Amino acid sequence: MMRRFVIIGQKATASDDFLLEDVPGTGGRLDVLLRCVRAALLFSHGLRRDVVVYLVLLGGPRAPRVLRLDAAAVKFVRPDERSLAMLARKALANGPEARAGEFVETRPGISVMNGGLGDAIADLGAVTRYVLDEGATDIRELAELGRNDAVFFLGDHLGFDGATRAQLTTIGARPVGVGPMSLHTEDVIAIVSNEIDRREALSPSVRSL
Ligand SMILES: C[S@@+](CC[C@H](N)C(=O)[O-])C[C@H]1O[C@@H](n2cnc3c(N)ncnc32)[C@H](O)[C@@H]1O
Repeated sequence: MMRRFVIIGQKATASDDFLLEDVPGTGGRLDVLLRCVRAALLFSHGLRRDVVVYLVLLGGPRAPRVLRLDAAAVKFVRPDERSLAMLARKALANGPEARAGEFVETRPGISVMNGGLGDAIADLGAVTRYVLDEGATDIRELAELGRNDAVFFLGDHLGFDGATRAQLTTIGARPVGVGPMSLHTEDVIAIVSNEIDRREALSPSVRSL
């Protein structure tokens, strides 16, 4: 089963002009989204080949842009935040000069698009849609989880704004929760991944780096 995670960064910079030494302060909390990349794509000493991550970057002069990481094709993704920040910076510096709404691959498995959440949604295809929301139906109650390709939408440290919520409602994203606490986004991704892992019971689609 393919897993897709879409993380919406309300202030996360869409340009490469942030400092590696201060990603939170100069990147509009891009660090939050980079930790989500680690949580979604990596396990201990391994890369989940069946995961695609979309970072919707809504901050800075080049916004909106979307950074897509497809684990089936990426190479050398390292778990530390600095390496992830360097990877994002190179991708955002390189491109693209393409038409709005079209992903341009900047290196294997890593693509950038001039566009926003709607364009990212258009790239997802026909998959079951969930929005991670505090207080919603517990993910453990979803009998179908792990049986179909799915996409999970998550907010950043600020959550979702009203327009994003409305957009996700319009596309039929089902609200699901992961328990009673308000968690950091990357921790929510780890829990969702774990729930699916348990149901898939040692999926053959993961392999060592
Ligand atoms: C740090 S939380 C956002 C908190 C923000 N102050 C708010 O009120 O939405 C970041 C994101 O993680 C997800 N999240 C956090 N806790 C969750 C929970 N218990 N169940 C489901 N999703 C959760 C949501 O997608 C949320 O937008």
